[in-house]
Formats: sequence, structure tokens, C-alpha cells
Amino acid sequence: MKVAVLGGTGRMGGAIAMQLSRRNEVVIGSRDRARAQEAAGKVDGATGTDNLGAALAAEVAVFAMPYEGLGAASELASALAGKPVVSAVNPLKLEGGFFRYALEKGSAAEELARLLPGSRIATAFNHVSSLFFEKGEPVAMDILVATDSRETFEVVAGLVRSVPNLRPLHAGPLSEARVIEQMTPLELNLAKLNRTGSLTTRFVSVRDER
Ligand SMILES: NC(=O)c1ccc[n+]([C@@H]2O[C@H](COP(=O)([O-])OP(=O)(O)OC[C@H]3O[C@@H](n4cnc5c(N)ncnc54)[C@H](OP(=O)(O)O)[C@@H]3O)[C@@H](O)[C@H]2O)c1
Repeated sequence: MKVAVLGGTGRMGGAIAMQLSRRNEVVIGSRDRARAQEAAGKVDGATGTDNLGAALAAEVAVFAMPYEGLGAASELASALAGKPVVSAVNPLKLEGGFFRYALEKGSAAEELARLLPGSRIATAFNHVSSLFFEKGEPVAMDILVATDSRETFEVVAGLVRSVPNLRPLHAGPLSEARVIEQMTPLELNLAKLNRTGSLTTRFVSVRDER
């Protein structure tokens, strides 16, 4: 698929772009076209342009910018109309050395859905540190995807499966994005308090055979 990674000049966007470029055509977006082109030079087969150009060119877009930058999404509303759009955005704050979720209610993904009323919003990749994606094949992990339609889930699940060792899990409607976004401060605090290095999620299962 042709995937725009908006904010793809950053740490998370660059790492996601690198992994997605294995099986997708990646367009890196930035507020600054030259910066996007420079970032694209580090990703096999990727191109770079401004966020609007990337949004227009893409079949699906991934938002990988800070929560504070989300407001600018409304300028991309018509370019992204009808398209699946993935939010990897986590609203976080640091209080006394402890990470906390920054929103009283709702989630970044639901806010994105309000800013892009014609798009099919999903949340995914939120709870994985860029460190897992920066080099080679990632370790086996689960990527939680919340979105309101099965069809959108299938598109995003396909993107997730295009990266080796990633398993997409349907986590329910977009209203569940708040729970998924809140996993990030939990993982950051667990890593810090227990000195484990970055943590992510892999669920284990057992079937009831009784
Ligand atoms: N880092 C991680 O490990 C990680 C893991 C999971 C999820 N996330 C989430 O992914 C998002 C990006 O994280 P990051 O660490 O990669 O952040 P970052 O490096 O600080 O920012 C990513 C890019 O966003 C663009 N940007 C910055 N401020 C902006 C604004 N006000 N408006 C529009 N664009 C802006 C910048 O690109 P240009 O200046 O080129 O436009 C920047 O290179 C965050 O929401 C974060 O919560 C990060």
C-alpha cells in the first residue's frame, strides 16, 4: 500500500517508516519538505514531501507527531477523506518523574476523528517504543488496534502484518483508544521503576478445553 507517515521525520515516524517500507510504498510527511526528503533518504524506497502532499498521495496515513501538533490535522481533512488513518499519538505528561496520561476524557485518536470527519480513524502502534522498530526485524509482539469498522481494522491489520513478528489484535471501537494510549505511560513507568529497558506487549493465551 502507499502509506504516508506524517511527522515521519521524528523518532517514531522514522522507525515505523523503516519497518513499513519492507512491503509498502512509504511517503514521509513533514511540515518542511526538505526535512522530509532528508528523512526519506534513510528509508529504503521512501520519498518525502510536506504533510499535505504525503496525505494526498497516500492510500492510508499514520500520524506520528506529538499530541500538541494534532490540531494541524484539520488542514489535511479533504486530502484524507475516505481513507484509513492510524493514530500512534499518545498524550503524555511527566509529573514528579512519573509518566501520566494527559487527557481528562476521550483520547487523541477520537480527537483526530473529530478533526478528520471524513476519514476512517484507527489507533495502533501507540504502546510500542520506537526502539523496537529501529533496527532489523522487531521481536514478536501484539499491536492493539481500535477502530469502529471491521473493514478499517482489516486494512490496518494488513499494515501491521506487513512487518515481521507483529500480530494485530482487534481491541474494539475507537472509544477504546483511551485504554490503548494509557498503556504507554504504564509501560514507561514499569520500565523506569523496574529498570527493565523498554517494554511492550505480547499477550499469552490458553483455550478452555473443559
Ligand atoms: N517515540 C516513541 O517511542 C513513540 C512510541 C509510540 C508512540 N509514539 C507517539 O508518536 C508520536 C511521535 O513521537 P516522536 O517521539 O517521534 O516525536 P517527535 O520526534 O517529537 O516528533 C515527531 C515529528 O512530529 C513533527 N512535529 C513536531 N511538532 C509538531 C507540531 N506542533 N505540529 C505538527 N508536527 C509536529 C516533527 O516533524 P517536522 O518538524 O518535520 O514536521 C517531528 O519530527 C507522539 O505522539 C508519541 O506519543 C512515540
